[in-house]
Amino acid sequence: MRVVIRSGNSSDVRARIDTDLPAGELARDGVELRVGADEPVDGDGLRGAAARAARMLRRTGGTIAWQIDDAGALTEEEQVRALVEGTAYGAYEPGLFKEGYADRPEIELALDAPEGLRRLVERQATVARRIDNARDLANRPPNDLTPVALAEHAGGLGLAHLSTESFGRAWIQAQGMGAFDAVGAASANEPQLIVMRYDPPGAASGTTLGLVGKALTFDSGGVSLKQAQGMQDMKGDMSGGAAVIEATAAIAELGLPVKLLTVVAATENLQGSNAYRPGDILTASNGKTIEIINTDAEGRLVLADALHYARSSGATHVIDLATLTGAMSVALGDLYAGWFCNDDAWAEEIEAASRTSGDLGWRFPLHPRYRRYIDSDYADLKNGSEYREAGAILAAEFLREFAGEGPWAHLDIAGPAFIRRKRPDYALDAGGTGYGVRLLVELAQRMAVASG
Ligand code: BES
Ligand code: ZN
Ligand code: ZN
Repeated sequence: MRVVIRSGNSSDVRARIDTDLPAGELARDGVELRVGADEPVDGDGLRGAAARAARMLRRTGGTIAWQIDDAGALTEEEQVRALVEGTAYGAYEPGLFKEGYADRPEIELALDAPEGLRRLVERQATVARRIDNARDLANRPPNDLTPVALAEHAGGLGLAHLSTESFGRAWIQAQGMGAFDAVGAASANEPQLIVMRYDPPGAASGTTLGLVGKALTFDSGGVSLKQAQGMQDMKGDMSGGAAVIEATAAIAELGLPVKLLTVVAATENLQGSNAYRPGDILTASNGKTIEIINTDAEGRLVLADALHYARSSGATHVIDLATLTGAMSVALGDLYAGWFCNDDAWAEEIEAASRTSGDLGWRFPLHPRYRRYIDSDYADLKNGSEYREAGAILAAEFLREFAGEGPWAHLDIAGPAFIRRKRPDYALDAGGTGYGVRLLVELAQRMAVASG
């Protein structure tokens, strides 16, 4: 998608909301595209309308012109945000490996808007491009997007004030990251701990935002093998890592003055003679021992070491994103992420960032009385439980043991990050959605403003 600002009438396809048309329907009369919507049209409604309009042109390509005005209920800023993001969602093509992908037709979004909005349009286009990239990463197959390929992607961003390092198996073992190491033991693909540091001029020195992501480039379940049906979707089990990498890139591109430390644990959960097993006891880098009950509960293991690394390397405010539990997607479906937080002030920031960005989230409880369900007879804690209920909460209680002191939040994005069926609201196809990128950019922006 390309985005341009124009003033005055153009002869391209012009789009407008038509409240006489049933919600979600499209009609095309000559060069005018009408998009049905429920009244009132809020930001998300406009995003959805823009997405549907763009989707209509996906096969042919072309230019869609929307008019930004100051007459409606939405501010000009809200309209720009919604139209650029929505058009990108609808224009996105998931068939990365289909014939003709490289020559797919271009969709251009022309905003009939005052020149003064240009900077905002460029900001939104940057965020939209990064969402597209996160979707591409999630949709790439696991034989292509290995942990090393993900590390190369992160290392190749080439943005000012951003430095990226990544470390393989020997380093992970030398650091005592026994939990992370065990998960990837059966894979011939080297695991990678990807560490990105963004240190821009003008950032408050006492605050470092720690972004932590789960990146299982494939999760077979390991010895506790998953069922075959739908297993191919576990290529999307790296969506948390993709979101934090692309959000980091967006924040750096926008030059937001906030220090970042981004840590991604990338590996593959397979079976083989080196595989870790139920009954094993692992020692994580913070010294805690973990009894393995289920090798499919591997996300909390890789995050244990990644969270400890982020905290002990100076992150003051930590947020992790992970496709962590099927239980959370059963609870909330594919629309909302469920999140947890150990600090109410930090929770307020996250709530506000979620609401403004459009990445929907719902806060769930942490409570020390859940901890007994992950008590182990043989080790400090265990990675699964005979107690079947509250699976997403038990996973969060597990992570809490590794998040150290200070504000920490955990977003379980198993539902909305990689969807099994297409979702009509943003004309989303099945697959990666880029969930979390715009939420994290918004969060960083709020922190930059608060400290600047
Ligand atoms: N990656 C899965 C969670 C998942 C499931 C993400 C469905 C997206 C869609 C995770 O590693 C997992 O398998 N979790 C187990 C934990 C259980 C064994 C305690 C689960 O949710 O079943
Ligand atoms: Zn798993
Ligand atoms: Zn997983």
